[in-house]
Amino acid sequence: MKKLKFPENFDWGTASSGPQSEGSQDKPHESLWDYWYKNDKERFYQNVGPKITCDSYNRYKEDIKIMAELGLKSFRTSIQWTRLIKNLETGEPDPKAVEFYNNYINEMLENGIEPVMNLFHFDTPIELEQKYGGFKSKKVTELYVKFAKTAFELFGDRVKRWITFNEPVAHTKGAYLYNFIYPAELSTKSFAQASYNILLAHAGACKVYKSLQLSGEIGIVLDLLPPIPRSARSADKYAARVADLFFNMIFMDPCVNGQYDDEYLEILEKHDCMFDILPGEKELIKENTVDFIGINYYQPQRVNAPKYAPNVNAPFTPNWYFDDYEMPNRRMNVYRGWEIYPKSIYDIAMRVKNEFGNIKWFISENGMGVQNEERFINKDGMIEDDYRIEFIKEHLEWLHKAMEEGSNCQGYHLWTFVDNWSWTNAYKNRYGYVSLDLKTRNRTIKKSGYWIKKVIEENGFEP
Ligand code: BG6
Repeated sequence: MKKLKFPENFDWGTASSGPQSEGSQDKPHESLWDYWYKNDKERFYQNVGPKITCDSYNRYKEDIKIMAELGLKSFRTSIQWTRLIKNLETGEPDPKAVEFYNNYINEMLENGIEPVMNLFHFDTPIELEQKYGGFKSKKVTELYVKFAKTAFELFGDRVKRWITFNEPVAHTKGAYLYNFIYPAELSTKSFAQASYNILLAHAGACKVYKSLQLSGEIGIVLDLLPPIPRSARSADKYAARVADLFFNMIFMDPCVNGQYDDEYLEILEKHDCMFDILPGEKELIKENTVDFIGINYYQPQRVNAPKYAPNVNAPFTPNWYFDDYEMPNRRMNVYRGWEIYPKSIYDIAMRVKNEFGNIKWFISENGMGVQNEERFINKDGMIEDDYRIEFIKEHLEWLHKAMEEGSNCQGYHLWTFVDNWSWTNAYKNRYGYVSLDLKTRNRTIKKSGYWIKKVIEENGFEP
């Protein structure tokens, strides 16, 4: 079979986040996760919290050495708001944190790894949740922009790719619709307001970044879960349309095109869930669109029209318009319980090309979570994760096809580098090129790590 070749400067990278990899040592503030864990341990898999994670706060040099050994070209992680900022009201930084992030970034650069820095991975400082109601309040939007400015000023001379938020809609969905992120308050109105305020925070950060005239780019990472209708019936197609408006286009449209799809706003109006807009905000969004998009893709969302009419006496939720549909015989990742459907990566890529001006983008997360991965350790102590190699290959094949057809994709980042701690799932699902021993925190490269090293060396692979 013909070898698939990627463009010369294709960005082979990997991704993690601060709260999932650093550990909480020396942080001046607690995030909502630190707090939630202290107060509601039962929610967390095996009651394990974010205190140590990969201990990259102390072991980042080891991580970067392995990245360099595998030939990875870039690494996305996040700067923790609760670590960098000492005074949350003024944006004044903590000197210890400044030293840590300087060392971390410099270490990457000295090893030929481009740092891609994200500013928010679901980790609002708990004080801002409790004092102001988190992103439901525009005060928190303002404070986020101060934090972003501090980060740009401190590290913007060396960091050339900035991300304002990771999967903002996963955050607001989890916090206000589906009960998996603190404060787990079920309210569509809060979902809509917090999502809008995050959009303002994003646009505000883009504006400040541009005003500093640093020589880099700024974008956002979105989790586009393409909703696939169960059938060609118009009711199912409409169900998919609404799911797309609420969970994809809610950020994709304004971040790339500078405005919302009117249909999304009409649905919010109809159900009395419209958010508050102040003068000047529309212009802020319009004038501060992104330089690039990162797209996280794991699995599609299959939907159909709801079976039953909604209970109009209960509060409105977007699920009045669609139900999740579990297609029989869909291909599953049996180790995690998510569907495997690589073709969606092609569909997303072509949609970006055809509907979003072929903006520059990259796969910022894709990967395969596996439970009890220790069962695949061979006699030399290495995890033989052939299933993951297969998974990556298939997704790359579809991505390559889209690129051949003109989609402007610049890179592929696997989630994740070293197996990390993942919110309420803790260490249940392992995703890394590198495994983490939970007793010693030692790192061991998996078979997929050696496989990607070869792919990077050859800038392609045989399908
Ligand atoms: C992504 C998030 O959506 O999913 C990551 O950006 C997360 O933070 C990853 O770790 C995997 O999630 P899970 O629940 O399978 O561990």
